[in-house]
Amino acid sequence: MPLTIGVPKEIAAGEKRVATVPEVVEKLIKLGFAVAVEAGAGDAANCSDETYRTAGARIIDTAARLWAESDIVFKVGVPTTEEVGLLRDGGTLIGFIWPSQNPELMKQLAAKRATVLAIDSLPRTLSRAQKMDALTSQAGVAGYRAVIEAANAFGRFFNGQITAAGKVPPAKVFIAGAGVAGLAAIGTAAGLGALVRANDTRAEVADQVVSLGGEFVKVDYEEEGSGGGGYAKVMSEGFQQAQREMYAKQAREVDIIITTALIPGKPAPRLITAEMVKSMKPGSVIVDMAAERGGNCELTEPGQVVVRHGVTIVGYTDLASRLAKQSSTLYSTNLFRLTEELCKTKDGNIDVNMDDEAIRGLTVIKNGEITWPPPAPKPSATPPAAAKPAAVPAAKKGHGHGGGGEPMPAQKLAIMFGVAAALFWFVGAHAPGAFLAHFTVFVLACFVGYMVVWNVTPALHTPLMSVTNAISSIIAIGALVQIAPPLAGGAPPPNEWIRWLAVGGIVLTAVNMFGGFAVTQRMLAMFRK
Ligand code: NAI
Repeated sequence: MPLTIGVPKEIAAGEKRVATVPEVVEKLIKLGFAVAVEAGAGDAANCSDETYRTAGARIIDTAARLWAESDIVFKVGVPTTEEVGLLRDGGTLIGFIWPSQNPELMKQLAAKRATVLAIDSLPRTLSRAQKMDALTSQAGVAGYRAVIEAANAFGRFFNGQITAAGKVPPAKVFIAGAGVAGLAAIGTAAGLGALVRANDTRAEVADQVVSLGGEFVKVDYEEEGSGGGGYAKVMSEGFQQAQREMYAKQAREVDIIITTALIPGKPAPRLITAEMVKSMKPGSVIVDMAAERGGNCELTEPGQVVVRHGVTIVGYTDLASRLAKQSSTLYSTNLFRLTEELCKTKDGNIDVNMDDEAIRGLTVIKNGEITWPPPAPKPSATPPAAAKPAAVPAAKKGHGHGGGGEPMPAQKLAIMFGVAAALFWFVGAHAPGAFLAHFTVFVLACFVGYMVVWNVTPALHTPLMSVTNAISSIIAIGALVQIAPPLAGGAPPPNEWIRWLAVGGIVLTAVNMFGGFAVTQRMLAMFRK
């Protein structure tokens, strides 16, 4: 019997998003589910009841009936006590829950013997989980919208212009915190033609800032800013002092500041003081994306737009909801991807598989039992630091034996060595001398090539690209050696066909290498525009 997914109308004041858009309803139905939508649920996100009906959903008049008829409920906002009351006994709820901040809600849901999947608790650093990462999709929309709000409140163009009516300098934008939202804001502001600078306590984001068209401004103080899991930590007093000095200088120079800095489980760091606001040019704008968590700016009023010392300070806490169609579409795609993981059989039933790391991470209550927090620590999003010699041999073993990382049993190793030694002895005893010389070089080349390629640090986009580039480079060097004229007294020139083979090798390698760069450029261009 296929399950029914229910989509209620969001009831939080000002919430315009809806958990499922009509395009996703069609996909859920293809997975075997029935879909029910509360009347008017998508109105604020430009999704009418009619479009849901056309997509195959049933429209239900009241919230009470919708919740009662749904086996699984998709929501955006944290459910209220009334909504929990409407949830079916033993029902499933998927949406934002924030379990650490809502212990009372967790108890209420557990009492309902519910199964609750908190999309905010997804282990984000798992690459498999990215398609379900609603925090990222919503932060991206919010970062974009923050720039649009800034442009709306700012009295000038973003891009520099020279016109008959005069010269307009480009707007200078400073972004504090270059996480998901900050990077989206950098890309958007740079796309509008502004001069963009950004700062973050995690030094590893500097390259991402530059690739999106911004300039990374460093704090003149050495301290590692990563607090694990790809997130930031609270910095030392010395760092904060140096950072304040740098931010004060930026505040005097720039027209717009967008702050996005957050530290998990802590109030937002205070980065922009009242003094800094006072030092900004009149007509400047601050958009404080951390307003909900206390604000990065001392003068922010959450949910409000205020003007202080001639500076407009935007403290909206619902930036993603202000672009409701876009954020709802991305959010419902995240939920659809999660549903696909839950329903591998495509028969409209779900299996909450607690052995799956991603599903385990976001399942905060299973059949009434609180399963949050998950046991395993979240792995870091950042590449391991260079100075970790102990980790290197383990990683190499992983590569060498199909990625398992398990050391090979000594017995198996001894047998392999024995067989290889017997083979070498056989070749050495029977093969002609010239072959033996070539064979020795070949074996050594294989060994050296293997060691070189697997020791390449995956510093490019993906480890695969790094490794294929390393292989291509070795092929290119080998082929060039074959083509180059022999040195005086060196080896005799190779056959003509060997040279042509080498030329062919160079051509194919060049296609691989330059094709790789072209693809990289295209990928980066997708984020720039
Ligand atoms: P967030 O919303 O918690 O923080 C925003 C930014 O503020 C972060 O970049 C943080 O470093 C920065 N920040 C904190 N305190 C600061 C301070 N005092 N001064 C300046 N900047 C400060 O973070 P968000 O955007 O949710 O994610 C942060 C990181 O998490 C990502 O950049 C990424 O590394 C990781 N992540 C990894 C994913 C993956 O591997 N698939 C997916 C999503 C996030």
